[in-house]
Amino acid sequence: MFEILRRDGMARIGKFTTTSGRSIETPTLLPVINPKIKTVTPRELYDEFGFGAIITNSYIIKNTPALNEEARAKGLHEMLDFPGVIMTDSGTFQSHMYGEVEMTNKEIVEFQRAIGTDIGTVLDIFTEPFWTEQQTADSIVETLKRTEEAVSLKGEMMINGVVQGSVYPNLRKDCAEKMAKMDIDVHPIGGVVPLMEQYRYAELVDVIMSSKMGLNPNRPVHLFGAGHPMILAFATLMGCDLFDSASYAKFAKDDRMMFIDGSFRLAEMQSLDCNCPACRGITLEALKKTTKNERIKILSRHNLFAIKNELALVRRYLREGRLWELAELRCRAHPAMLDGLRRLRDYQEFMEKFDPISRDGAIFYTGIETRGRPVFKRYADRIMTRYVPPTKKAAIFYGEQNKPYSRHFTEEFANARRQGYTPIILCPWGPVPAELDEMYPLAQSLFPAIEDTDTTNESEELTLDFLETMFDETVNGSELEMKEGEDVPEEQLDLERAKAVSRYQFGIEATDALFRGTIELRKSKKTGKIRNVISDGEHVLSMRAGDGFYTLRLEGARRILEAVPAPHMRMAVTDDSVPFVSNGRNAMCQFTTACDENLVPMDEVIVVDKDDNAVATGRMLLVANEIFSMKKGIAVKIRNGSEED
Ligand code: GUN
Ligand code: ZN
Repeated sequence: MFEILRRDGMARIGKFTTTSGRSIETPTLLPVINPKIKTVTPRELYDEFGFGAIITNSYIIKNTPALNEEARAKGLHEMLDFPGVIMTDSGTFQSHMYGEVEMTNKEIVEFQRAIGTDIGTVLDIFTEPFWTEQQTADSIVETLKRTEEAVSLKGEMMINGVVQGSVYPNLRKDCAEKMAKMDIDVHPIGGVVPLMEQYRYAELVDVIMSSKMGLNPNRPVHLFGAGHPMILAFATLMGCDLFDSASYAKFAKDDRMMFIDGSFRLAEMQSLDCNCPACRGITLEALKKTTKNERIKILSRHNLFAIKNELALVRRYLREGRLWELAELRCRAHPAMLDGLRRLRDYQEFMEKFDPISRDGAIFYTGIETRGRPVFKRYADRIMTRYVPPTKKAAIFYGEQNKPYSRHFTEEFANARRQGYTPIILCPWGPVPAELDEMYPLAQSLFPAIEDTDTTNESEELTLDFLETMFDETVNGSELEMKEGEDVPEEQLDLERAKAVSRYQFGIEATDALFRGTIELRKSKKTGKIRNVISDGEHVLSMRAGDGFYTLRLEGARRILEAVPAPHMRMAVTDDSVPFVSNGRNAMCQFTTACDENLVPMDEVIVVDKDDNAVATGRMLLVANEIFSMKKGIAVKIRNGSEED
C-alpha cells in the first residue's frame, strides 16, 4: 500500500506499507547487504543510520548452502537481524555481470517467498544499452511472462515488476504500461546501471520519464542500482521513490569516498573536509595509515552518511517545494548530469500536469535550465489562451528588477492608460500584463539582474507572439509622451486586475460567471490589495496575499457549476462520502468517482455529488489519474463544506 503525503514536481513523499505491516517513508534508499560480507551490519544500518529498509540478494543466499539453510529455518529478518523492510533481488544483476544464472524464475521467486522477504523480485532479463531494438523487444516478452508467473506465485509476499527496455523510450513505456496492468507492488526501473557508469544521463532521463509515463502513480518506483548521493535529488524530482546502493561498500573497498559532488580516491585527496560521524576527529594522513579493514569500515560509514544526509536534504527541499532548485544545483556537479537536466525539458508538457499551481516559497532562477521547469510552460500557455486585454493598444515596459511593477511604474502606467494603452512588462517570464503583477510566479520569483541570452530570446519571442495575438498596436512605454487628462478610475483598474487573475486561474468562462452582476471589491486597508470579491451581494472569492491567487467560496463554486459544463473544476464523490465532505472532512481518493483532468496540485476545486451539486470547495493535493489509481489518501483538502456553520 502506497500513500502520497506530499509532492513537488513529479516527486512525492510517500508512505509505503508492506503486506507484513512494516512501513517506510519515501523517498528512501536501501543499502545493499551482501549476506556473506556485512561491511556494516543490518542492525547498525537500522539503529544508527536510520535506514528503514535494506536490499539483499536471494540468489547468493540460495546458492550458499549454510545461508540457504539458515534463511529457511529462521527467516530472513532474524537471520540478518533487521526489523525493517527487506527487499531481495533475484540474480538478474549477476547474469548481467557474469552471464547466465543456473536458476529458473519459479525457483527463485518461491525461494524468496519461503525465506519471508517483504518484497521479492522476478528474474527479469537485464536489457543492455548496446542491444538492438528487436533483441530488447524479444527479451521484454520473456520478462513479462516471468512477471506474470511471479505474480501468480507471490502469495503474501510483495513483488517487484522490473521495467526493462534498454534505451528505447517506446519499449520502456510499453513495458511499463503492461506492468501497470499486473498485480505488482513496486516498479523498479532496471537495466540502468551501465548508463550511470557511462555517464549517459540524458538517456537515463529518457528511460526514467518514458517508464513513468507508462506506470501507475499508485506504486513506488525504484531506480535499480542508483545509489550515489549526487543523483538522488534529480531522480526524486523525476518521480523515483526508492534507490539502492552497493557502492557505499564497493567504493570503500576501492579506497574511494562519495561526496555530493562526486567520488574521490583517498590517494588523490588533498584534505578531508568532512564532518560526518565516521570522519570526525581523524585526519587524512591518519586515515591513509589505517589497516585495510579499518579503512573499509570508516569509508563505508562515511559513504552511508553522505547518502543519509543528502536524502534528508532531498526530503526537506521536497517539503519546502524547492526540489527543482536542489536538483538543478546537483546537476552542476558533472557536465553529463547537466545533459540530463537539459534533456528533461523535453518532458515539460508531461510534467506540467503534476506541477502545483503555486508554492510557498519563491522561485529562484539557477541558470538557463530553470526555463525547462513546467511552470514556464504553464505561464506561456495560460497567458496566450486566458488573457483578455482591457484595450487593444499595448505599451511595453522593461525591468524585471523593478518589482512590484505597478508600484515602481505608477506614473508611467497611469500615463499610458490615460492614452488607452495597456501596460505590459517584458520580463524573464515573457510578457506580464500589469494586472497580473502580484500573482504567482510573477511576483514570487527572483532572477539575476544580468540576463542570459536564452532568457532574452525566449521571453522576447513569447512577448512578440502575445502582442500580435492580443493587440492591434504596440509602443515602447518609455517613449510615450506625458499627457495630462483623466485617469482611468481606480475601481476599473481593480476590476481588471481581479478578473485577469481569475481568468488565469479558473479560465474565461468561469470568470464570466463569477463576475456576473454588480461587483464590489473589498481591499485591505493596510496593503491596498484586493481581498474579497462580492458579486451581487455574494462573497464569491477571496484573494490570498501570499501567491495572489484566489480561494473559491461555495457561492462562487455554485455559479461556476451553473455556468460552465462539467467536468470543469469539479471532482465528484460517492453518496457515502457526501455527508463527511459537506461537513468539512477531507475528500479521499477511494470515494472519488470523477475528476477534471486539467486540475493540477494546489488548484481550487469544487467537490460535487453525483448530480453536480456543490458539496464543498478545497484544494487539490493529487491529480486525477493519481486519485483514481490510489487506494488510500487525501485527494482534496477541504476548506468550506456546504453543511458547515
Ligand atoms: N540491479 C540493478 N539493475 C537491475 C535490474 O535491471 N534487474 C534486477 N533484478 N536487479 C538489478
Ligand atoms: Zn565523512
